[in-house]
Amino acid sequence: MNPKKFETNAVRTQAARSQHDEHSVPLYLTSSFVFDDAEEMRASFAEEKQRNIYSRFTNPNTNEFVEKICQMEGAADGCAFATGMAAVFGTFAALLNSGDHILSARAVFGSTHGLFTKIFPKWNIETTYFDIADLDNFEAFITPKTKMIYAESPTNPGLQILDLERLGALAKKHNLILVIDNCFATPYLQLPIAFGADLVIHSATKLIDGQGRVLGGVTVGRTDLIQEINAFARTTGPAMSPFNAWTLSKSLETLAVRVDRHCDNAEKIVTSLLEHEAIEAVRYPFHKDHPQYAIAKKQMKRGGNIITIQVKGGIDGGKKLMDGVKMCSRSSNLGDSRTIVTQPAISTHSKLTVEDRLAVGITDGLVRISVGLEHPDDIIQDLTQALNNLK
Ligand SMILES: Cc1ncc(COP(=O)(O)O)c(C=O)c1O
Repeated sequence: MNPKKFETNAVRTQAARSQHDEHSVPLYLTSSFVFDDAEEMRASFAEEKQRNIYSRFTNPNTNEFVEKICQMEGAADGCAFATGMAAVFGTFAALLNSGDHILSARAVFGSTHGLFTKIFPKWNIETTYFDIADLDNFEAFITPKTKMIYAESPTNPGLQILDLERLGALAKKHNLILVIDNCFATPYLQLPIAFGADLVIHSATKLIDGQGRVLGGVTVGRTDLIQEINAFARTTGPAMSPFNAWTLSKSLETLAVRVDRHCDNAEKIVTSLLEHEAIEAVRYPFHKDHPQYAIAKKQMKRGGNIITIQVKGGIDGGKKLMDGVKMCSRSSNLGDSRTIVTQPAISTHSKLTVEDRLAVGITDGLVRISVGLEHPDDIIQDLTQALNNLK
């Protein structure tokens, strides 16, 4: 256990200083590392000696990034990936065998849904969906083949909140591996391992980078499971680049400060939008009308930077809002310093059937707002002028 506080570890965890005595960790752009003699090379490849060999396996920048995320999440070990989806896929592919069964929350990121429906059936890995708002019926879905439980909280983009403590206890009771995608909350707001998760996944592309620059992914958690994931990643090659690891590790230094400001801004925007005539519903985890408000309060420090609004007029209403913003960006990313609006029904979730979309709360007029770090008055002004055109 590292005794220091979150913010201190985020700033002070660093790769060992080089002979140049640099203050800020340099970028180690090197494909491979050299050995003093043949015996050192042999011992390193035989894993008798722990050291960097080749940047597909480890690199000082990647190691530093992983170590920071482990400290933040309270995890024993971790593995970095080129993207969030590489982390999601690598975690499943490393741990599952043909014939295994996954129990996944129905509300998962679109590409994760694609793994369950299009990729894994090719290898005889089946998935059953459960509703995270209805854990009373969860045990009925467990079969002798079930090996893993997978969920996000808050969900993308429906902002449903899963009771992590309850699911953690169910996973333990049935000896199932619980994997939580903690992308929307970040370790600053929520620690799934403390509630019983075995593994935590991030798309580091989002709030961890925080400025919309690089892609990245990471899985952290139980040592025995991470060993298998690392072995899989070394062989199959979805490694995070040293440049991205360097960028992301620097970003983690400011995660707490940034996320607090994102949350301040989101809270102000929720309050300002609530009464707008063009909006049918506003959803935010820390707003008292959220259906799982009590659970969000129990397991999250603050509500995060994502708000969803359901505008009047369905697909056309949502498109009008998207077209009406003058400052906010129309984009599919989230967790950026720039406020982003996304209409999932016509973009990120357009490949889902209408029934599947509606089952996870993605209505036609739903617009996801990833609240950025601009001054909140300017964000409110831009959204309000765009909404005024819908009345
Ligand atoms: C919840 C969640 N998980 C995983 C991913 C995939 O991450 P990446 O785009 O870095 O592959 C995303 C991307 O939007 C996401 O929102």
